[in-house]
Amino acid sequence: MQNFIYKNPTKLIFGKGQVEQLKAEIPQYGKRILLVYGGGSIKKNGLYDQVINQLQEIEAEIHELPGVEPNPRLSTVRKGVEICKAQNIDFILAVGGGSVIDCTKAIAAGAKFEGDVWDLVIKKAPVKEALPFGTVLTLAATGSEMNSGSVITNWETKEKYGWGSPLVFPQFSILDPVNTFTVPKNQTVYGMVDMMSHVFEQYFHPSTHAPLQDRFCESLLRTVIETAPQLLEDLESYEHRETILYSGTIALNGYLQVGYHGDWATHNIEHAVSAVYDIPHAGGLAILFPNWMKHVLNENVERFKQMAVRVFNVNPEGKTDEETALEGIEKLRGFWSSLGAPTKLADYEIDDSQMETMADKAMVNGEFGNFKKLNRADVVAILQASL
Ligand code: NZQ
Ligand code: ZN
Repeated sequence: MQNFIYKNPTKLIFGKGQVEQLKAEIPQYGKRILLVYGGGSIKKNGLYDQVINQLQEIEAEIHELPGVEPNPRLSTVRKGVEICKAQNIDFILAVGGGSVIDCTKAIAAGAKFEGDVWDLVIKKAPVKEALPFGTVLTLAATGSEMNSGSVITNWETKEKYGWGSPLVFPQFSILDPVNTFTVPKNQTVYGMVDMMSHVFEQYFHPSTHAPLQDRFCESLLRTVIETAPQLLEDLESYEHRETILYSGTIALNGYLQVGYHGDWATHNIEHAVSAVYDIPHAGGLAILFPNWMKHVLNENVERFKQMAVRVFNVNPEGKTDEETALEGIEKLRGFWSSLGAPTKLADYEIDDSQMETMADKAMVNGEFGNFKKLNRADVVAILQASL
């Protein structure tokens, strides 16, 4: 392991009815609140009314930014920044999934920045200050509720980038499994694919000694694999929603990745694909990850074999390490496909016509990936295999 410092300041407030904690948490930050949410799911399932009631009880002055898109757009971030500056907002409350939270993080940083918020996303300028914000999570997937990362799309230039800062950890995040009951089946699947992918990004690292982290990763993967089919049978099961909600947070709150750097190449390639085609993030991951795995297998066959045996119960007897490893990768693809996730880019009607554009976007900062450095030819090969 490398030396490390781990600090995660987000207060996690978990369980049934915890939305009531809003009135205890918010007043310390002020009265002028910007409420940020998505395309309307929270109005349909009643969460919007519950949040408004809480804010009214503390006599907040409520401003609203509705309509945050999945794959949140820079144009919406800019709208939020304008409201914060014009209305002198004290605190932002994000109610939604990863997109709403990511958008809120950019608004929080942009509100305290003189220039254009895009400069913060592309790291042309550093984040020096940010408005405080909290979240009420409605979808188990990204981990954004307890991390300091955010992904923003500039739809005009078709660029999608991740950025982050210790200043954009949420102050608190409220996670009530009941608020995820209405997540439709396809989004539920995407969420589980995303959290598993986050674990894979961290499991495939160059360190030779992180046995506890490996076991944490494996237990999270096994928990999701065990729970996923049961949850899809009963989308309103409190217990299964609870397991998956907590899994999503742990998968990307920094806890698994202490003492080493994960790979993160597949996320980079996916962001390039969804910048061009606006497909769901985890739909792209479900397609790309098994192909990335096959492409980099020889970097460390042992590690892939370990995954196959420990996570997917592959019997290694009588097989070469490579055969065992490949069987594990096929089991992963089969598992995601059994949940209903896509397996090839053609499922989104994506062909090779934009291959060069996607590769350019993935390569914008040069070679990438910590488990194995990928160059342009690697990216094209992985995309070709994904068609
Ligand atoms: O917009 P509404 O109407 O709320 O509908 C949303 C949206 O259509 C719906 N939804 C959310 N909660 C619901 C619900 N529908 C019914 N009931 C509920 N309770 O689900 C749809 C997708 O929502 P979205 O927030 O886009 O999904 P997700 O949480 O998967 O976020 C995806 C975004 O996060 C980024 C992705 O790139 C993508 O832009 N990521 C952020 C990360 C981070 N900050 O750490 C890491 C991830 O790897 C990821 O890249
Ligand atoms: Zn992800």
